[in-house]
Amino acid sequence: MSDINTKQLGVVAILLASASPSLAVPAKRLDNGIGRTPALGWNSWNQAQCNAASAAVVLQTAKAFIDLGLKDLGYVYVNIDDCWSSRQRNSTGHLVADPSKFPKGIDGLAREIHSMGLKLGLYGDAGTLTCAGYPGSYGHEQKDADTIAAWGVDYWKYDNCLTEVPYTNKGIKSPQYYPIMRDALLKTGKKIIFSICQWGRDDVWTWGASVGHMWRMSPDIENSWSSVAGIAAKAATIHQHSGPGGFNDLDMMELGNGKLTEAEERAHFGLWAMLKSPIIMGTDMTKLRPSTLAIIRNRAVLAVNQDPLGKAATTFTPKGKRGPADGKLYKYFAGPLSDGVVVGLVAADGAETLTASFVDVPGLGEGQFAWTELYSGRNGTGSSVSASLGAHDMAIYKVTRTKA
Ligand SMILES: *[C@@H]1O[C@H](CO)[C@@H](O)[C@H](O)[C@H]1NC(C)=O
Ligand SMILES: *[C@@H]1O[C@H](CO)[C@@H](O)[C@H](O)[C@H]1NC(C)=O
Repeated sequence: MSDINTKQLGVVAILLASASPSLAVPAKRLDNGIGRTPALGWNSWNQAQCNAASAAVVLQTAKAFIDLGLKDLGYVYVNIDDCWSSRQRNSTGHLVADPSKFPKGIDGLAREIHSMGLKLGLYGDAGTLTCAGYPGSYGHEQKDADTIAAWGVDYWKYDNCLTEVPYTNKGIKSPQYYPIMRDALLKTGKKIIFSICQWGRDDVWTWGASVGHMWRMSPDIENSWSSVAGIAAKAATIHQHSGPGGFNDLDMMELGNGKLTEAEERAHFGLWAMLKSPIIMGTDMTKLRPSTLAIIRNRAVLAVNQDPLGKAATTFTPKGKRGPADGKLYKYFAGPLSDGVVVGLVAADGAETLTASFVDVPGLGEGQFAWTELYSGRNGTGSSVSASLGAHDMAIYKVTRTKA
């Protein structure tokens, strides 16, 4: 069961000191004491849709998290997506786990997951049915929140299918109906991550932080480079809305799913890390290639993602270069860290040597700097960095000032 039992939950106003007015974030953020950095974990959907929503797959994944050292790196959320419940609520109107997929129930599974030092995520939907046609939480929000809290669930992803009849046909939009579940979860008194999944509608990034710990900012990711690139391009334009406790969610990872090259996997992971997205794996964790494993176990890139400052990177335009174009992945990224600046170079259009002069990078400027490239471990000093990259590859530099 959950080891946390606090009554001090609530939506509290936190005034976040902001470096500049253009980085203003919503003043009122959901703060129940958890989710201060982006969540790290796994979700069943991208692996095998409904077929991966079973206790057997969840336990296999949890074991892999431990055996591969991922738990020690911070990957703790093992999340079940759609298709976990029975087709009908029971006679008292409660959600019940499909006994053929979850023989010990969700509560039994949560106990096993917790005993391994991990956390369990579950999936629901704001409408009348989930996307795969299982019972939705419309009209049952408090009952469902109480049920999952009693089961020991730590993370609740809340989808947006079949919301037309109860809500949107009547002009009730997601900024009005997503808070119903937020309030129900808060009322349980359990610390549960609330993951908003309404596919980036209604400018969710402008209000998501007051409702959940993370919010999907795009339609579903697809297993292709163009999908990865398009989502990252969009996220760069709304970076200022992410901060400790509330993050743009760029969707679950496609690493390991057989379509992305090794270079593209580095860029996918590196962009999600710099843009401060949750990193939720979506593949069979027992069958990772060594190159994929090396990427997801890179401590330095994970440290960028988990940096306590929690500010997402965005693009910067080097002098003499054309700026970013709408919807197209840009080559130059940078963002602040609590102990330096992170600079990303992405060979978005094909193999290329890319250079960043630190005078062009916000937060750097004139002076002397030390840098480390986080995928290779290469170190250096100077006033610029340069990388010869294969198509769609990425280099990520942590840069610190050595002398004014
Ligand atoms: C319905 O399910 C809930 C939670 O799964 C359980 O507590 C309750 O006892 C069940 N009701 C009946 C009538 O079986
Ligand atoms: C680069 O510097 C870091 C930090 O000082 C150090 O841990 C690492 O071993 C260095 N890498 C190389 C390749 O020298």
